[in-house]
Amino acid sequence: MGVFRNENAVARHFGIPSNRENALSRRVSIARSAQAQRWNQIAPSPLEDRMSIEMQASVRVADAKLHAKFGPKLITSVPGPRAQRIVADDRRLVSPSYTRGYPLVVKNGCGCRIEDVDGNEFLDFTAGIAVDSTGHCHPEVVKAIQDQAAQLIHMSGTDFYYDLMPQLASRLSAIAPMPGPHRFYFGNSGAEAVECALKLARYHTGRQNVISFFGSFHGRTMGALSLTASKVQQKRRFAPFVPGVTHVPYPYTYRAGGGPQEEEAYGLACARFLEEKLFKTTLPPEEVAAIFVEPIQGEGGYVVPPNIFLQELRRICNRHGILLVADEVQSGVGRTGKWWAIEHSGVEPDMVCIAKGIASGMPLGICMAKAELMDWVPGSHASTYGGNPICLAAAMATLNVIEREGMNNAATVGAAALARLGTWVEKYEIVGDVRGRGLMIGIEIVEDKQSRKQAGALRDRIVDLAFERGLLLLGCGENTVRLCPPLIVTQEETDVALDILECVLEECVMLATR
Ligand SMILES: Cc1ncc(COP(=O)(O)O)c(C=O)c1O
Repeated sequence: MGVFRNENAVARHFGIPSNRENALSRRVSIARSAQAQRWNQIAPSPLEDRMSIEMQASVRVADAKLHAKFGPKLITSVPGPRAQRIVADDRRLVSPSYTRGYPLVVKNGCGCRIEDVDGNEFLDFTAGIAVDSTGHCHPEVVKAIQDQAAQLIHMSGTDFYYDLMPQLASRLSAIAPMPGPHRFYFGNSGAEAVECALKLARYHTGRQNVISFFGSFHGRTMGALSLTASKVQQKRRFAPFVPGVTHVPYPYTYRAGGGPQEEEAYGLACARFLEEKLFKTTLPPEEVAAIFVEPIQGEGGYVVPPNIFLQELRRICNRHGILLVADEVQSGVGRTGKWWAIEHSGVEPDMVCIAKGIASGMPLGICMAKAELMDWVPGSHASTYGGNPICLAAAMATLNVIEREGMNNAATVGAAALARLGTWVEKYEIVGDVRGRGLMIGIEIVEDKQSRKQAGALRDRIVDLAFERGLLLLGCGENTVRLCPPLIVTQEETDVALDILECVLEECVMLATR
């Protein structure tokens, strides 16, 4: 429990008695034997299990003390009995459209730790899909939410005024990736931020068409879904979509093959495809309102494009009066070590879509635009709950924490993690590529380096095995493991998490080669 800075507060948070250390070590040893049994179920022979344990010792960076202090603490095999019951109820009653991978049933969260309903403690490298940027239940965010809830929960910013809206707007204006003045629209989700940008782009330019990229994910409401081109299941049986969207290639350089020089050339070629092909054949540029781009593709596989790609898009937009919309829903608010991922390229967008990490888990979506673009009149666009006071208060507190510690931490811990992970490309045949910025890191899993064949099932197995060992991960793209922990994750927690992940990789490699 050393991960929590204030042990008493955390003990209270988890409802744990003060003599918990002893109880915990008993639980840990029970957990270890339960886990060992579980591992034996996965590993076909005791010999394999022994080999696996030896290898685990050999790949560790953090010592046993750090593992005991910061590592997961499992007291049942997972899912435990309570989790199993809840999953069974959920399967009967809740929409089957959700994409749950492994059966984690969450009860509490604190910092980078999650406790499930059976009392198992996990190390969380998902941050609730890159949302809990300040860690679970950061005390400053909790206080802001509590104070605001006691004062005003809702009055609708659509029809009335409250000070938090211009306050948060000015705060964001000061850190915008393009010069001001700016204006802000407040909604409830990433998809709503994108819907706003799409409608505003059409409204302002009077043009109907927009461009987005293969591999992109912009959300699931009809406008945002029309821009999305990530997985076909997201679109199956929902057509017709909003007309006027053209998808073009994104520079997924690892999949294109070639070394660093070819990567630059490929990035440039993807952008130039617009002028050299699209605008000459099917899409007159003067009819294009906006280009929507993720500065780092998120759901598409944590794909980092060469800077020149974004720079060339900017030039093309300037030449043709097209708006450049940066969808920073996943990559923004400090995750990459800068406020906005697009800043790494030096490109200034016209609009920015913001959500996820902005409010530490409270539902908030924001469209930030150059002020002159927001020329729509009352009634053009709004939402009853958008910019709810509690969400805005949570966002203000979140920005304080990220500015004070999260963003720098994301840069330094992220760089160290990338350096270690980079060595895995040489070390493991199944690690095809490691990429990312700050704490937005993808590890692409392949059948072998030669073919680069996407190993989606193996990636899923890695994520599942990590869960069984107490590390929470998510996949993205077809075959990438994503690391998107809270931005306040410590170096020690990261060392422990990567040790666990490396053990899982070792095990997968060993099983595959036997
Ligand atoms: C880049 C990007 N845009 C938009 C969205 C949609 O956000 P939400 O799920 O909050 O609607 C997501 C969600 O993953 C995203 O990653």
